Amino acid sequence: TPAITNNINEVSLQIDGHTIHVPKGTSIMRAASMLGLAIPKLCATDSLEPFGSCRLCLVQIEGRRGYPASCTTLAEEGMVVITENKRLADLRRNVMELYISEHPLDCLTCSANGDCELQDTAGQVGLRQVRFEGYDKKQANKTVDNSNPYFTFNPDLCIVCNRCVRSCEETQGTFALTVDGRGLESQISTGLNTNFKDSDCVSCGACVTACPTGALMDNSVIEMGQPNHAVITTCAYCGVGCGLKAE
Ligand code: FES
Repeated sequence: TPAITNNINEVSLQIDGHTIHVPKGTSIMRAASMLGLAIPKLCATDSLEPFGSCRLCLVQIEGRRGYPASCTTLAEEGMVVITENKRLADLRRNVMELYISEHPLDCLTCSANGDCELQDTAGQVGLRQVRFEGYDKKQANKTVDNSNPYFTFNPDLCIVCNRCVRSCEETQGTFALTVDGRGLESQISTGLNTNFKDSDCVSCGACVTACPTGALMDNSVIEMGQPNHAVITTCAYCGVGCGLKAE
């Protein structure tokens, strides 16, 4: 049983057997991450308002039916939450399988290879094969928008997680992007404008940073590949790599 907190601004709950006190208004996902538990996610980020669309972050709450999204469900006093069991693993793998079935499988030649949250999350949920043939090659090669001088939008790689639309609004206060259509037809669009260049986009790059796939990609990465973050250092206590040698 979780310890009861006396602080009226906090709630106490149990996640995977660990008791934690968190400020009221904290999501279950955030509380879990404070315990070092990484619940799989695609539409949530640390900086954007929770959206609850990808359904990868499902958890089980004792005494409740269904599997709520941990990013949009707030921690409550006395809650007992389970983030990992076979049922949750199966559900997450199935959701991811649907995403991947609608996505090209050419990771090795994709500019985002090695820096792709979709790729990483597929590995995290243990997806090894895709049973569905949802990815329609005839629909592939939708028009790539390279009208912006700094980045390119490739709709084939987009999973419509909405992170770009939300980051444009929440980070930049601009409303250059929207989602057109519904269900399988839904896609990120620049609204009534035909491309990024003619839209209200101010080229801040927030959407590129927010994108969990290679759909919105910095042109320098497309042209030169992923930046090399490795550093050379001679100091055992520092990763800066200034090259100073200890005497
Ligand atoms: Fe919670 Fe997407 S991360 S629904």
